[in-house]
Amino acid sequence: MEYLWDASLETGNATIDEQHKQLFKAVNDLIRICDEGRGVEELKKSLDFLTQYTIKHFFDEEKIQEKYNYPDYTNHKRLHEKFKEDVKALSHQMILKGASPELLTEVQSKIGDWLLTHIKIQDLKLAAHLKAHA
Ligand SMILES: [Fe+2]
Repeated sequence: MEYLWDASLETGNATIDEQHKQLFKAVNDLIRICDEGRGVEELKKSLDFLTQYTIKHFFDEEKIQEKYNYPDYTNHKRLHEKFKEDVKALSHQMILKGASPELLTEVQSKIGDWLLTHIKIQDLKLAAHLKAHA
């Protein structure tokens, strides 16, 4: 399965939208690497990229929230922190045990599905705030 970005996920902020597209691509790459049973080096590279890109994206998005005095900033940041922890824990397990079907299911639910839901609910809520205060 592939995570596809479409216009219904658009926040209207070019930086955020571009980064969301890249994140979906990074998750799809990780899933493909697991599916194809590629070696640990490729798996590690893909996990590293996803981890670093997530950190960068959340940092940039939180800066935008601060700039526009987003009232739900604290809650939103807490959700980001929890996700970063989940990605870290999952990465450790995958590197330790390899990409089993069980872990692949977790990548889909804890990373891919989480991102999709987070964008649909939290980031679109942020988008409404940005549009009202631009
Ligand atoms: Fe977010």
